[in-house]
Amino acid sequence: MRGGRVQVTDLQKHYGDVPAVRGISIDIAAGEFFSLLGPSGCGKTTTLRMIAGFETPTSGDILIDGSDMSRVPANERPVNTVFQNYALFPFLSVEDNVAFGLRYQKVGKSDAKRKVGEALEMVRMGQYAKRKPGQLSGGQQQRVALARTIVLGPRVLLLDEPLGALDAKLRKALQIELKSLQQSLGITFIYVTHDQEEALTMSDRLAVMAGGLVEQVGTPAEVYDSPATAYVADFLGNANVLDVEVAGPAGTGRTTVRLAGQTLTCQGDAGPGDAVKLVVRPERLRLEGAAAESSAIDGSVSRVVYQGPTTDIHVRLGDGEELVVRLPSARAGQHSTGEVVTVHCQPDALRLLPRGALS
Ligand SMILES: Nc1ncnc2c1ncn2[C@@H]1O[C@H](COP(=O)(O)OP(=O)(O)OP(=O)(O)O)[C@@H](O)[C@H]1O
Ligand SMILES: [Mg+2]
Repeated sequence: MRGGRVQVTDLQKHYGDVPAVRGISIDIAAGEFFSLLGPSGCGKTTTLRMIAGFETPTSGDILIDGSDMSRVPANERPVNTVFQNYALFPFLSVEDNVAFGLRYQKVGKSDAKRKVGEALEMVRMGQYAKRKPGQLSGGQQQRVALARTIVLGPRVLLLDEPLGALDAKLRKALQIELKSLQQSLGITFIYVTHDQEEALTMSDRLAVMAGGLVEQVGTPAEVYDSPATAYVADFLGNANVLDVEVAGPAGTGRTTVRLAGQTLTCQGDAGPGDAVKLVVRPERLRLEGAAAESSAIDGSVSRVVYQGPTTDIHVRLGDGEELVVRLPSARAGQHSTGEVVTVHCQPDALRLLPRGALS
């Protein structure tokens, strides 16, 4: 099976005067694991439903392998959808659930039986073929729901928070299974989630969405290490995002800013009065070991939050803003609330970014 390329251009959807999707363009390669990541209400499901053909776009184009989908009904698109709530038929056995969709394809009885068997093996549910959905765990039901869609041989599989109802440990296990299933099928997966860790671990590329728009598209490493906006940095876990005042240029690609009455040198170009935020990952900050180029910011420890392997030290600055410094727990034990500390950071850890959706 070869996967489908999905090209979405300037896609918009308005419900009355509610803009759910405000113009997004994405080009998803055949065989890619692509995620739509964003907070509740940002338009992920609406986008997926337009690709599936369940919603008509207000404007914009959807092409699958170069063919315009605007006049192709949902059931004729080379696309299938897996929903969060499985939507299995409770009165049919597992194998009959999987076989159900094949009724509408011209498939002989023995062919259908073989296809159903293969699909169930693929999701490791072969031994449960005769059971009813009510006799299965949530994770097993989700596997059946997957088998039911892959048996139809779609070029593109759309998955809307398929692991959302499962506990953390099962989610982790199924994330790995889903990814290897996608690789062995070789088809395109478009995966909707609001869980940043899930999107980062599973995707070849992802789109970070906010308010019906795409803020950034890239590989997990690109969006995490080089966020385009402060919003993306903040959404992809654990960034200090602070309001700063631009002081002036500081050589190629660097700018000095004022934060809590102190002057820092950071990466990025900005002029006085620009709407920028200072973004710094907590793991890039130190409480000792000043290097030649590093900036120093004085503050006092307001909270120490133990998290197992690492500990977050919250440092309150002169103006009331807070910086979180993440240390390996073995080195964090000596710090306590109320202690006066100096936070050290290298200029390349401090990035000035346009605000993005949060502004
Ligand atoms: N049928 C509808 N009629 C009116 N407004 C709608 C409809 N469907 C969605 N919306 C609105 O469009 C926006 C986007 O909804 P959508 O379901 O795409 O969000 P989502 O990103 O999937 O969110 P979640 O993570 O909560 O599932 C929301 O503001 C929602 O209230
Ligand atoms: Mg949704």
